[in-house]
Amino acid sequence: MHANDQVALVTGAATGIGLATALAFARAGCHVVLADRDADRGEDAAEQVRRLGRRALFVATDVADPGQVEELHRQAFAAFGRIDAACNNAGIEGEMAPTADCTLENFDRIIGINLRGLFLCLREQLRIMEKQPGGGAIVNMASVAGLVGFAGLPAYCASKGGVVQLTRAAAIEYAERNIRVNAICPGAIRTEMIDRITRRDPVSEQQFAALHPMNRMGTVAEVADAVVWLCSPQAGFVTGQALAVDGGLVAR
Ligand SMILES: NC(=O)c1ccc[n+]([C@@H]2O[C@H](COP(=O)([O-])OP(=O)(O)OC[C@H]3O[C@@H](n4cnc5c(N)ncnc54)[C@H](O)[C@@H]3O)[C@@H](O)[C@H]2O)c1
Repeated sequence: MHANDQVALVTGAATGIGLATALAFARAGCHVVLADRDADRGEDAAEQVRRLGRRALFVATDVADPGQVEELHRQAFAAFGRIDAACNNAGIEGEMAPTADCTLENFDRIIGINLRGLFLCLREQLRIMEKQPGGGAIVNMASVAGLVGFAGLPAYCASKGGVVQLTRAAAIEYAERNIRVNAICPGAIRTEMIDRITRRDPVSEQQFAALHPMNRMGTVAEVADAVVWLCSPQAGFVTGQALAVDGGLVAR
């Protein structure tokens, strides 16, 4: 699907949806730049990409830090000379509390990583892609919580709603320059993030599953496949979309 030797960059690539996406890009023929603040697991993820026969560069990065985000993209460009696809996936759930009890520290931390951190990455990628022949494609990891409200997650919902709107704004700005920008809005996906929320309690897990008309959680592969498709020529006329990968949750 992807021409060999294309370059994909994934943030939050050490585990979960980001790791699955990095591996899916590698299977599609891309070299992969992986970024995460967890250096040990990030290096291990890069090794998994190499075992698939593609080149991999891991750069330890906190996406909330503008200097580190700049350095990530500088190293990516120095190593590969281009970035064809990017998936801005790093994100946190933060502490759960109703709005009146949400601390300023929690609010700022969530916005700082999920929205401001994603913006920092998006900005670097657009600067690189607009200068290269062929443009590029970017997928921002939002959430169904960016489309509908969820009690106890005010800052998370605000951050993901912001990601959807940032995606639309960038998409129309860069449409004529052959850079497509889309968002994916996953429902509950089985990852460490969901395990932290449900504490692997079967009753809590079933409550999450039941939010979706398909009565199950999604898999990381189901999200990763959607990312790779959105970055492929098969999605060449798709930009500015917030694609729900959610077993029908927002269709209710
Ligand atoms: N799992 C779900 O149900 C679900 C649903 C909707 C959206 N999402 C979104 O998908 C993305 C990935 O979620 P996941 O479930 O794989 O999460 P996860 O917690 O399992 O993995 C997140 C990864 O991002 C990294 N990360 C966190 N903060 C970072 C930072 N500041 N800088 C760099 N790396 C950082 C972590 O180290 C980790 O490797 C997140 O943006 C999340 O909000 C997840």
